Amino acid sequence: MTRKPHAPRSERAPALVLGVETSCDETSAAVLGAGAELLGHVIYTQDEHRVFGGVVPEIAARAHVRVLDGVVAAALDEAGVALSDIALFGVTAGPGLIGALLVGVEWTKAAAWALGRPAVAVHHMEGHLFAATLSDPPAEPPFVALLVSGGHTQLLWVRGWGRYTLLGQTRDDAAGEAFDKVARLLGMPFPGGAHIERLAAQGDPDAFAFPRPMRSARTRADGLYDFSFSGLKTAVALAVRDLESAGPLEEAARADIAASFQAAAVDVLVEKTMAAVAETGCRSVVIGGGVAASRALRGALASALGPGGALYHPPPRLATDNAAMIAVAARFRYELDGASPLDFTADAGMRMTGLEATA
Ligand code: KG4
Ligand code: ZN
Repeated sequence: MTRKPHAPRSERAPALVLGVETSCDETSAAVLGAGAELLGHVIYTQDEHRVFGGVVPEIAARAHVRVLDGVVAAALDEAGVALSDIALFGVTAGPGLIGALLVGVEWTKAAAWALGRPAVAVHHMEGHLFAATLSDPPAEPPFVALLVSGGHTQLLWVRGWGRYTLLGQTRDDAAGEAFDKVARLLGMPFPGGAHIERLAAQGDPDAFAFPRPMRSARTRADGLYDFSFSGLKTAVALAVRDLESAGPLEEAARADIAASFQAAAVDVLVEKTMAAVAETGCRSVVIGGGVAASRALRGALASALGPGGALYHPPPRLATDNAAMIAVAARFRYELDGASPLDFTADAGMRMTGLEATA
C-alpha cells in the first residue's frame, strides 16, 4: 500500500490495533477494529495475590511472563486475525509496577520490531479516560473526569482529548486502596471493593458516623479538589477494634460498617466531583478506574448531576484494568503524535502527556 506523502493523520488511522496491559495484576490483550469496535478482548486476573491480601510485585511480573503469550493469542483468536495483521501496537508503559510493566513493554516492542509496525507507549490513566469512549453512548469532551482505581484517585478537567487539567488528587491512599483495606479489616479477600459493595447492601449507611475527610475545604489551597482516605480507613479500624473487644463481629455489624464506610467514601467522591462541575459549568462527568464499577458511586453521581447532567461510565469489565482502553488510547496518541521511538521503556512514574497541574 502506498501512502500519500502528506496525508492528514486521520487518513493514517491504522486498521487493526493490538493493546497490551500488564501494569498491575491483570494481564490483558485487545484487538480494536478500524471503526473502534472491539474484535477480541481477553483479561486474565491474577489470583496468585489473593492469599497475600495485596499485589506482590515480583509475583505479578512472573505471572505476566507466564500468561501474556497465551492471552494475546486468545485475543487474536477471538478477533479471527493473525499477529501479522496488526497495524499498530499499544502498550501501557506506566505508571505501575516496574517489573510488571516491563513484561508488556518488552513483548510489544519485540512484536512491533519483528513485524516492522509502529508501537505507542500508553499512559495507564489516559487509558482509563478512554475507557469511557467504549461506553454506550461514548463520552466526548469537554467533561469532568473522576479516575478512581487501586493506585490512583484523580479529578480532571478534560477540555478535549489530550488537553487535561489536574484539579486534585489523593493526598494519601487511593479510593480503591481504602476499599481494599476496609475489606481486609472485615475479613474479605483482595481486591475488596466488590465484596464491600455486596456486604453494604445488607447494612445501614447511617449506623456509623465515619468522617468525610477534606469535605470542608473551600479553596484549592485547602484542598477543595483533593482527597484523603487514610483517616477514614483508620476510623473504620478503630470501630472494628472497639466492637471486636466485646467478641467476634456479628454479620449485621459487619454489614453496617461496610455500608457506613462506602457511604462516607462515596459522599466525598461525589461532593468533590460536583464542586468541579460547579466551577467548570460542565455537567458531563466521566468516571473510570476500578471503583467506577461501584453501583453506589454511579447512582449517587447520577442523582447529584440530576436530569440536566450526563454521567458516562464504562461497563464494569472496562472500568477495571483492561487492554481495550489501552488500544483506544494508543490509536488516539498515534494519530496525534505518531509512533513512539522503539527504544521507549517502562516508566513506573510516567507523566501523562497533555496534563497541566492547574486550571
Ligand atoms: O483500575 P483497577 O482495576 O486497578 C488499578 O489500576 O489500580 O482498580 C482496582 C480497584 C480495587 O481497589 C478494587 O477494590 C476497586 O477497584 N473496585 C471497587 C469495586 N470494584 C472494584 N471499589 C468499590 N466498589 C466496587 N464495586
Ligand atoms: Zn488501572
